[in-house]
Amino acid sequence: MTELIATHGLTKRFNGLTAVHQVDFRVNAGQTSGIIGPNGSGKTTLFNLLSGYFAPTEGAISFQGRDITRTQPHARVALGIGRTFQLVSVFTSLTVWENLVLANLRFQPGETSLGRFFFRTARRARVLADCARALEWVGLADQAGAGVDELSYGDKRMLEIGIVASLKPRLLLLDEPLAGLSDHEINRVVEMIEGIRKRVTVVIIEHKISKIVDVVERLSVMNEGRLICEGTPEEVLCNPQVRECYWGKEGEAC
Ligand SMILES: Nc1ncnc2c1ncn2[C@@H]1O[C@H](COP(=O)(O)OP(=O)(O)O)[C@@H](O)[C@H]1O
Ligand SMILES: [Mg+2]
Repeated sequence: MTELIATHGLTKRFNGLTAVHQVDFRVNAGQTSGIIGPNGSGKTTLFNLLSGYFAPTEGAISFQGRDITRTQPHARVALGIGRTFQLVSVFTSLTVWENLVLANLRFQPGETSLGRFFFRTARRARVLADCARALEWVGLADQAGAGVDELSYGDKRMLEIGIVASLKPRLLLLDEPLAGLSDHEINRVVEMIEGIRKRVTVVIIEHKISKIVDVVERLSVMNEGRLICEGTPEEVLCNPQVRECYWGKEGEAC
């Protein structure tokens, strides 16, 4: 299997606190993986390091065999590393479609003016086609003209994922995509992930293991900044250290 992204001794310290400690994390192309771990165990910080929002204190990151440790976030998006953005930056007075296109434009290399963009027919056609395809993937094609403020919480989450999917990433990092959703909405997001993973390598952070064991092929467990266990979901769930970390010493053996 071809390695897509890998970290080597990756460490991030905030003042005295080590949020990510000597992490060697690897994802192969086409593999759907999950990262689980208690609150504060460093999962989001790891994504921030992978996507370039934080520079590591120590260690290195490679993507498709190339060192990207010092590569800026926008350049990582251009290489194919996509992560979801919180909807705070979405304009609630605009429609789903307008938000998608605007967000996509922000990441077009060298695109400094919206006006100029609309005169470049070829690029405009490509961006609009990418956005239309992404809306289909996340099941929002029927709601393209709806205002974002009319969307349910689950549909807003779908739009967040649609925005990053429209950038056609090779690697899609989803940070707790199921958090705060109803069971029905969770099923929709899980179905969408199952559909999209044929085209893109997906890594999902999730707090509750039960929600993603059926979706992922590999699981990694973080605890206090360290990667304490990796393997198939079955292997991980039977690991005594993981069981103790999640369920305490009385956690039943497999
Ligand atoms: N920007 C930051 N500045 C200072 N401390 C941070 C920052 N981001 C995260 N941390 C700390 O790093 C630790 C890991 O946090 P985080 O990666 O968000 O954990 P998780 O996503 O697993 O819940 C926590 O103790 C958190 O308070
Ligand atoms: Mg987090």
